[in-house]
Amino acid sequence: MSSEKLWAGRSKKATSSMADDFNSSLHFDSRLYKYDIEGSTAHAEMLCKQGIISAADAEAIINGLKTILSDIENGVLAFDDGEDIHMFIESELTSRIGEAGKKLHTARSRNDQVALDIRMYLRDECEKTAALTCDLIAALADKAEENTETIMPGYTHLQRAQPVTFGHYLLAYAMMLARDLERIKDAKKRMNFSPLGCCALAGTTYPIDRDFTAAKLGFDGICLNSIDGVSDRDFAVEICSALSICMMHLSRLAEELILWSSWEFSFIELDDAYTTGSSIMPQKKNSDMAELVRGKTGRVYGDLSALLTMLKGLPLAYNKDMQEDKEAIFDAVDTAKKCLAIMAPMISTMKVKKENMYRAAQKGFINATDCADYLVGKGTAFRTAYKLTGELVAYCVENGLTLDEVPLDIYKSKSELFESDVYEAIKLENCVKKRTSAGGCGKASTDAQLEYIRKSISDQGIY
Ligand code: ARG
Repeated sequence: MSSEKLWAGRSKKATSSMADDFNSSLHFDSRLYKYDIEGSTAHAEMLCKQGIISAADAEAIINGLKTILSDIENGVLAFDDGEDIHMFIESELTSRIGEAGKKLHTARSRNDQVALDIRMYLRDECEKTAALTCDLIAALADKAEENTETIMPGYTHLQRAQPVTFGHYLLAYAMMLARDLERIKDAKKRMNFSPLGCCALAGTTYPIDRDFTAAKLGFDGICLNSIDGVSDRDFAVEICSALSICMMHLSRLAEELILWSSWEFSFIELDDAYTTGSSIMPQKKNSDMAELVRGKTGRVYGDLSALLTMLKGLPLAYNKDMQEDKEAIFDAVDTAKKCLAIMAPMISTMKVKKENMYRAAQKGFINATDCADYLVGKGTAFRTAYKLTGELVAYCVENGLTLDEVPLDIYKSKSELFESDVYEAIKLENCVKKRTSAGGCGKASTDAQLEYIRKSISDQGIY
């Protein structure tokens, strides 16, 4: 960074090279080049339309920016020198087209420029993460549809609790992700306002047309307060927080995939394409991808926390601390996208071991609630029925039986209301079938859930 600084007029001496390095963000914000050029092009058109620069200058600027864009994309122009992407492009433009290049920054500041670039970048990333979320929701819905009658034990406190279907279970995650999708879309809605023209902080004396650039760049409107427009990064916090919540969901799902593929559970087998072996233990099949999703969740939380902490003590308006937003934003988006992308095929290709799920459901007295409900159906108060069933479970534990194996006379010794139809009532298939309450694990409810989920992704225009 040896070239003369833009502020050489004000400063008596050059910044030290250590300060240059410390100050520079080019090595990470260069990835905003496309948005920076798009924003500058719209700005130049507006300056021309408003008679602030001449048509010839605007044409030179716009054509110059086009050549810079194609040279970057063809790998001809490297990001080798400059404080940040904004200054890199401006000085490259001036070295290419001369005097006209020096007019581009009229009625603009890097403060509104950087706020514009990040909003445009994140807006696109909202679309991409939304599409990946839809892919995962679709994978979950497909797997759920194949398993609306696959019985497994549902857990509370990681203790077998009541029978559910694997389809119902997977749809729980689909519901969580459908809300993540809403949050991502919502974040985009609020970020889609243009800060361009807020300038350094106070607006400008030039007769600019902010609505023109906002419309040109696909925004829904302009930031109405110039200080707010350049000072806040709440839109970045918002998408990072939506992504953090989404990662939390992915992490819980990843944790279940890891547990379920252990020998102890053996409920599923992940496809070889998404597992690894051990360098020493020949028998191992490790769920590395799922573990990494769980591990990377912490990174995204860290990014969110970095953003919130960076902003919390800043007086308005722009402060250089805010340059620190970008690496956190990029990392959160990159990480969440990678995790969403790998989870979808992991779900679609996993093998469901239905027999093992069923076998696990047969143990642990998970039909005990249904046994109590049977008595309630015959007029016993629930609390009494609950106590009697508890005694039956204790009897089973002592005698190594399941509730289905207890002889009728033992049932009758607890309550005369027990008849031989109790065995039907506590059959796992019937326990699931009878849970017809809205949102329960019965077939009609899972069908309704599937319909809702499929609609929520088709509303995206992707499925
Ligand atoms: N590289 C800076 C950032 O990312 C751009 C804005 C700089 N503005 C300033 N007044 N120094 O925040």
